Amino acid sequence: MIITCEKCNARYDLDVSSIRKPSFKVRCAQCNHGFTVHKPAEPETDISLSEAVRPDHDHLVVSISNQKGGVAKTSTCMNLGLSLSKLGKKVLLIDFDVQANLTTSLDLSPNLPSFFDVLNSGIENISRHIHETSIPDLNILPANSRMALLGKQYMHTPNFEFMLRDSLKWVNNSFDYILIDTPPAIGYCTLNALMASDHVIIPTPCEYLSMHGIHKIEEIIRIVKRRTGSNIDYTILIAMHDPRSVASRVIFKKIGDMFKDKVFKTTIELDEKIKESQILHQPVHIYDPKSSSARQYMELAQEFLDRTS
Ligand SMILES: Nc1ncnc2c1ncn2[C@@H]1O[C@H](COP(=O)(O)OP(=O)(O)O)[C@@H](O)[C@H]1O
Ligand SMILES: [Mg+2]
Repeated sequence: MIITCEKCNARYDLDVSSIRKPSFKVRCAQCNHGFTVHKPAEPETDISLSEAVRPDHDHLVVSISNQKGGVAKTSTCMNLGLSLSKLGKKVLLIDFDVQANLTTSLDLSPNLPSFFDVLNSGIENISRHIHETSIPDLNILPANSRMALLGKQYMHTPNFEFMLRDSLKWVNNSFDYILIDTPPAIGYCTLNALMASDHVIIPTPCEYLSMHGIHKIEEIIRIVKRRTGSNIDYTILIAMHDPRSVASRVIFKKIGDMFKDKVFKTTIELDEKIKESQILHQPVHIYDPKSSSARQYMELAQEFLDRTS
């Protein structure tokens, strides 16, 4: 039976088969709140219990997240997504940032229905809002400005942070990877993305303050693990690296020493071609397949496949 703390909404999977009383007291391990639980007259079926704890899916859900802005989250989501599709994987990108940069970078209109509209039209219809892009096997659920209302409308709904996870159960195409581009803040969208994820990629430049951002995401991943019981894992991606800068090289080494095998071996270096490609609304691999960043994103995709399969 799934029990939700009435104060902090922490969820627990409790075996009540040996409890004979119709109601009993529990204390939340997270906020220490004590409350009474009533056993359901009819026990829930095994299927609904296991689904509530972990959705059954074949695809790997990956959030690209860092609460700092301008660290290459959107660029990584798009270019890693394209590279995975080039390696034969079927990919769905979810633009989960109200700025809709991922949507416009792939030359789609920022007025198409988004996750906000999925919730309003019924989550079972989510596949209707997924669009093909001009690149084979690269699909997208766009963002639009109405996503700014998600927090206001749902933040006080019990278990609001599982809305994306529950919606993804209704995606009926068989994707291998679902990559979620998240906004630079820990709010409704980032919490939903992390709760739905099996893996988090944390892009970071080699800057002194960037390590704080990594620790923050690690902290949230620990909370997600506690609340969902999932095996969510993460890998740090050094992006926008400038190997000619002494300061960058010092921080690069520091991040490697501190996080060891939690850091991708592949790094993405600074490359003007990324900026140029975004002006033309194209992934860098389409704009200039011979560029260093196109090559590095292909290497990253291969390393990611090796790590996750
Ligand atoms: N490897 C790179 N080299 C040069 N510019 C980059 C690189 N990666 C991203 N950028 C640029 O940096 C800016 C921020 O990138 P973006 O992916 O939008 O970050 P975020 O989504 O984290 O805010 C964009 O203008 C993008 O074109
Ligand atoms: Mg972005």
